[in-house]
Amino acid sequence: MLRIAFASAVALSATELVAAVAPYLRVTRVVGLGAPVAVGKATEILRQFAATNDRPILIREGRFFLLHAPGGIIAAYRKCTHLGCTVPFSTEKDLFECPCHGSRYDKRTAVVLKSPAPKPLQLFHITQSQSGVLVVDTNPLNVIDRGQEWDDRYLEIREG
Ligand code: FES
Repeated sequence: MLRIAFASAVALSATELVAAVAPYLRVTRVVGLGAPVAVGKATEILRQFAATNDRPILIREGRFFLLHAPGGIIAAYRKCTHLGCTVPFSTEKDLFECPCHGSRYDKRTAVVLKSPAPKPLQLFHITQSQSGVLVVDTNPLNVIDRGQEWDDRYLEIREG
């Protein structure tokens, strides 16, 4: 009798342990982020920047903005480097402003204009296909982390 009670208690404990740990073992699939995203030809994108006073172009599916950086085009991941909120562009203020704690980022380089963000928005890599279409790699594990100042060595798509 005692053995049966002990075995039942062990089985119950094991079930509870599995139920508690299982949710953390499941791999969460990232949807809409992580895949290559084609954004069109550089000439078309630059034309759009010229017509809009360099307003950042939101590519919602990849969660990034195309920016007209000095000398070329970059793709900035719209995840705030403070605590990860999604960063919108403020047309009124002409900069990026995080709604969570007020960090601000420059509209052309995404460097920090106002803390608490500790560093600029991360950049995604951009390549150019043979047909001239730019393709942004939105893998969040392959982002470019930068220092505080704008540095054009991270410019992968250059003008002219
Ligand atoms: S998460 Fe953006 S300022 Fe805190």
